[in-house]
Amino acid sequence: MTKLWGGRFSKKTNKLVEEFTSSIHFDQKLAKYDCIGSLNHVATLKRAKLLSTAEHNKLAKGLKAILKSIAGGSFKVDPSFEDVHSYIQHVLEQKAGKAALKLHTCRSRNDQVVFDVKLYCIDQIWSTVLAILDINKSLFHLAKKNKDIYVPGYTHLQHAIPVRIYDHLSVYSQMFHRDGQRLATIYENSIATHLTMGSGAIAGTFIQSEKYHHDAIRPTENSIDTVSDRDFVIEVLSALSILQMHLSRLAEDMILWSTKEFDFIDIDDAFCTGSSLMPQKKNPDVLELVRGYTGRLYGNLVNVLVMMKGLPLSYNRDMQHDKEPLFESFEIVQKELNVLAELFKNVKFKKENIKKQLDDECLYATDLSDYLVQNKVPFKEAHAIIGRLIQYKLKNNIELRSLGDPELKKLHPLLTSKVLKKLIDPKTSVESKKSVRRRK
Ligand code: ARG
Repeated sequence: MTKLWGGRFSKKTNKLVEEFTSSIHFDQKLAKYDCIGSLNHVATLKRAKLLSTAEHNKLAKGLKAILKSIAGGSFKVDPSFEDVHSYIQHVLEQKAGKAALKLHTCRSRNDQVVFDVKLYCIDQIWSTVLAILDINKSLFHLAKKNKDIYVPGYTHLQHAIPVRIYDHLSVYSQMFHRDGQRLATIYENSIATHLTMGSGAIAGTFIQSEKYHHDAIRPTENSIDTVSDRDFVIEVLSALSILQMHLSRLAEDMILWSTKEFDFIDIDDAFCTGSSLMPQKKNPDVLELVRGYTGRLYGNLVNVLVMMKGLPLSYNRDMQHDKEPLFESFEIVQKELNVLAELFKNVKFKKENIKKQLDDECLYATDLSDYLVQNKVPFKEAHAIIGRLIQYKLKNNIELRSLGDPELKKLHPLLTSKVLKKLIDPKTSVESKKSVRRRK
């Protein structure tokens, strides 16, 4: 193992220190981005006349060969190296010979690592957005397939008023859509427009800033800021945490709906697991694991927030700890989105059980009060009248639909059994709501 430093040391690094400081076991995920960064760096060195064309071409050829081995899956790191940056430089030395000795001219890993992580985030953001599109497609199909089914809407987890399953499921598509937009905004505002080079270790380099301008890459505006900044990591972790919160709420809804008590849905056997002791069990473990991952995602966000708190400018080695939480959060949400997109292809709604719940006449109390209001009864009075009607029903354990006109008229002359029969209906209830702009 060769180090990128060592000249000023008179002793070998302690084995324990080598192990303790090494990051190659996780930052090898950055290999591809490190090569891309190095390709841009050697192009800058050539523009600055610090590399001859021949030297540049040798290094570029070597870097492209490493990129090819990464893409082909044959690239393996040597775990005795400190990090992926040192290892790639070492591999390049083997391939390009003496020219590789110039690779690290005007460069520091402090700058390199920020650049690599930003490129990694760009790739992962778009993979996450694609996975979001997939789950939304799956949710949309499920919603469309069941568009004529109504379910009780809940507030406080108590029966509120009927809603369409289509609208209930679409809530999650809206959430995921916002998550995708949030990630795209972070990409645009904090990553793609801050893809810089030339910070050196902290103060910049002696190369003219224009020489760093290349494709999407810009010279740094404040090199101290560039090597100190991990806001983009925290922004990504925060957007992923919000996405995770949505996944968890969706999982919880489905877990509830699959209980014997609700019994609104059936999740395909292929997406459930059993019990080693209780033969009858069919458990929604996938959904529970999704819900459970929330701890990891929030933990990763808080981890990096706390790690960054109080760090003096500029780069500090503490910042090496940003990678594992970042990598893990991306990996978890993508796994969750992928498995849920499949799971939702195989969810069946149990119409009969849902219908039983829709028979709860209390669900239509607001519709009855709305009817009075639309017939000029002041809202507060209407609310009280229907409140009394519900109290009467619950106390006497009777069906509202079975009440005769004389009994109803005692509460209000506008209340008739014909009106009640018409209004106590999920379709009528849902269709009476005009404020919601619905897609037909
Ligand atoms: N492995 C380090 C990180 O991930 C790379 C930068 C190391 N820089 C240094 N001066 N030791 O942050």
